[in-house]
Amino acid sequence: MAIERGNFSTRIGFILAAAGSAVGLGNIWKFPFEVGEGGGAAFVVMYLAFCFILCFPVLVAEIAIGRKTQKNAVGAFAALGFKNWSVIGYLGLVSGVLILSFYNVVAAWAFGYFVEMVTGNFGIGNEFGEFTSDWITVGLYSIIFMSATAFIVAKGVSGGIERAAKILMPTLFVMILCLIVYALTLPNAFDGVKFYLVPDFSKITGDVVYSALGQAFFSLSLGMGALITYGSYVSKNDNIVKSAAQITLVDVGVAVLAGFMIFPLVFSQGIQTDGGPGLIFVTLPGVFESLGSMLGVVVGSLFFLLLSFAALTSTISLLEVPTAYMVDEHKIKRSKATWIVALIIFAAGVPSMLSYGAVESLGQFVKLPGIENPLPFLDFVGLIANDTFLPLGGFLISVFTAYIWKKENFNAELASGDSSIKGSWLQTYVDIAISYICPVILGIIFLVTVLDNFLGIKILSLILG
Ligand code: PFF
Repeated sequence: MAIERGNFSTRIGFILAAAGSAVGLGNIWKFPFEVGEGGGAAFVVMYLAFCFILCFPVLVAEIAIGRKTQKNAVGAFAALGFKNWSVIGYLGLVSGVLILSFYNVVAAWAFGYFVEMVTGNFGIGNEFGEFTSDWITVGLYSIIFMSATAFIVAKGVSGGIERAAKILMPTLFVMILCLIVYALTLPNAFDGVKFYLVPDFSKITGDVVYSALGQAFFSLSLGMGALITYGSYVSKNDNIVKSAAQITLVDVGVAVLAGFMIFPLVFSQGIQTDGGPGLIFVTLPGVFESLGSMLGVVVGSLFFLLLSFAALTSTISLLEVPTAYMVDEHKIKRSKATWIVALIIFAAGVPSMLSYGAVESLGQFVKLPGIENPLPFLDFVGLIANDTFLPLGGFLISVFTAYIWKKENFNAELASGDSSIKGSWLQTYVDIAISYICPVILGIIFLVTVLDNFLGIKILSLILG
């Protein structure tokens, strides 16, 4: 008996679900602190360039592979007749499991902060360390978050994923706009805007280049088959190039807006921008407190609720990748597959959860030759999965699309939904980028990242000075 795979019922449903996957903690939690550590606007410029030049074509390729085959990230390569290349799908599964394992922990922090804000506990900003080291509480919130994710994924594509995205995404957008308007009215807000918008290119080092690339891939949910999986539920009549362009614009747009929300808030508090993963958790509660108890509770709870919503539409897509694999390849019922995978990933996330204060050795888990301080377990998993595996996955997907599956087939799939795309400038760009620009640049950056971080050979930093 064939197992019912499901489909997105409308084009807008797919766009919202894919944009929901893209828009997440990456935009609102990670992007601002990466900008803060990477010297402000120079990082932003590089991130934008990577998103449009390198990531957009890979996004098109992933959706095309998914739609052509109607298969999960692993099965898609075999369905095209290249079983050996399923290794890209397996790499994607590993990346997805690793990412969700720590992502769920950060989502749990966000959700926990929502609860703290509702109760008016603004002091939590000064107690970020204590909060994250309380593993019983964080553990409870992570169980709640993973269960919410699994509950929606178990309901299937249109009834669960699409429906959730249609409600959550527009709400999120309105919430961000309201917070920006408020942030811009605060004292010193415009110093924040300046830091964010005026680039100082001397700030660009090798590390900044890798993190901008890792961030671009992470932010667009690329390089791990999430978009192959979502693409497999897309209607044959959709114009993939157009959908991919819209998804990229929404994702980049939300990241850029998040900067307009966070930096005025951070500068209004007179706080350092290089606060790392704690940036928004440490700085924001104080900002909300300054609003007075009533308004502070409303705005503060709204913000962390928004962050939790954004995280939820992303954890859904992260869980969907291994779930679709289990359903397609091992013929396991969707609901059963979902809960089994969720449990395994939750367990895999425990060391990350314990690495922010609960267990000291996990907090200083490894000292890599190319990185100054020992990394906590959570950051180490992020380095491997986001900054290393995702660009590698992107590189392999572009090589596969251009030279193995072949461009004629790729282009035919793009044109099958909407033939007006043929010969358009966007399609021409995708064609050139997927064959030359993506493989070359992604290949080079992948190699230098590995040499730099893991062996301490700083080629790019030497060149950039
Ligand atoms: N794009 C998500 C974010 O920016 O928060 C993270 C993510 C989701 C990465 C799904 C990869 C993925 F497959």
